Amino acid sequence: MKGKILVTGGTGYIGSHTVVELQNAGFEVVIVDDLSNSTEAVVDQIEQISGIRPKFHHFNMQDLGLLDRLFEQSGGIDAIIHFAAFKAVGESVQKPLIYYRNNLLSLVNLFDCMEKYGVNNLVFSSSCTVYGQPEKLPVTEHTPRMAAESPYGNTKIICEDIIRDYTKANPKIQTIALRYFNPIGAHPSALIGELPNGVPNNLVPFVTQTAAGLREQLSVFGNDYNTPDGSCIRDYINVVDLAKAHVISIERLLNHQNESVFEFFNVGTGNGVSVLSLLNSFEKATGQKVNFKIVGRRAGDIEQIYADTTKANNVLGWKSDTTLEDTLLSAWNWEKRIRKID
Ligand code: WQD
Repeated sequence: MKGKILVTGGTGYIGSHTVVELQNAGFEVVIVDDLSNSTEAVVDQIEQISGIRPKFHHFNMQDLGLLDRLFEQSGGIDAIIHFAAFKAVGESVQKPLIYYRNNLLSLVNLFDCMEKYGVNNLVFSSSCTVYGQPEKLPVTEHTPRMAAESPYGNTKIICEDIIRDYTKANPKIQTIALRYFNPIGAHPSALIGELPNGVPNNLVPFVTQTAAGLREQLSVFGNDYNTPDGSCIRDYINVVDLAKAHVISIERLLNHQNESVFEFFNVGTGNGVSVLSLLNSFEKATGQKVNFKIVGRRAGDIEQIYADTTKANNVLGWKSDTTLEDTLLSAWNWEKRIRKID
């Protein structure tokens, strides 16, 4: 084995795809997840895809005692990928303390255990949300972070600051933060994918559920923005390409190739895509028409953001190479499988 990796939040959407790629790359994986936004069946699907069943521990990382016991029992963890966090933007506005306690305390507990058990490598799941609405596009890693629109986004900013301050005080600890743009799509096997609880907040699961007949109609939140077709622009990144960026980051840390104790990379495609053009691409890729209507803007939405991926391409040595249409088709194939649509 190339090493043992603890993946927190490993049964979640991005976590599960990353576990598959880690196991494909020859790593041994241990998952901890509280199943607040996923199910244990994902472990079966990971095994079905990669032929290897990762160890799975079911608890929330706010419990330092349980986390400590996991480190003690697992022995010899070489690195950690930390996905575990609550991530519903709207819910974070309603319940800020739950978000601050969970997302911040989980990271602090993790650092406590890393120090106690001598685990020195961490890849952190961050988000382009730290940039807010950038003045200049595309966004580089030098683009200043802006005050977040939501407590969720603020926890990402604060977690990055905790990592910065902690690695300054403990330079043994080597870290990489990956700032995701908009992850979409599903594994080509259609055995794992995005499965939001209840009504999806995010665009692509709402599109696929509308195409599958679960939702009556998609509401497009605004077409009066200052963009070519008036709808918002985002950088939609294929989830498997995103997962591979984590494997490359882990190898960078294990091979001591990182150039500082806290590196961060924009992980996107570099292409800005509007909501309306994404709908066109979905219909072209799948042959499925999506019933939608234009409604008012959604509070908190930024107008446009997409990445300058030069640093991830040239320094990390990673590039997203899956087309938007192939990615949207993978999302549709996943939706069809879980809804048993031929
Ligand atoms: C994309 C575009 C909407 C739903 C959020 C988080 C971000 C990250 C990704 C975790 C926007 C429009 C959406 C719908 C619509 N999550 N839309 N109708 O808001 O860019 O980013 O998810 O890290 O942190 O903020 O993603 O998919 O919600 O929206 O018109 O039913 O689709 O207005 O322009 P967003 P999204």
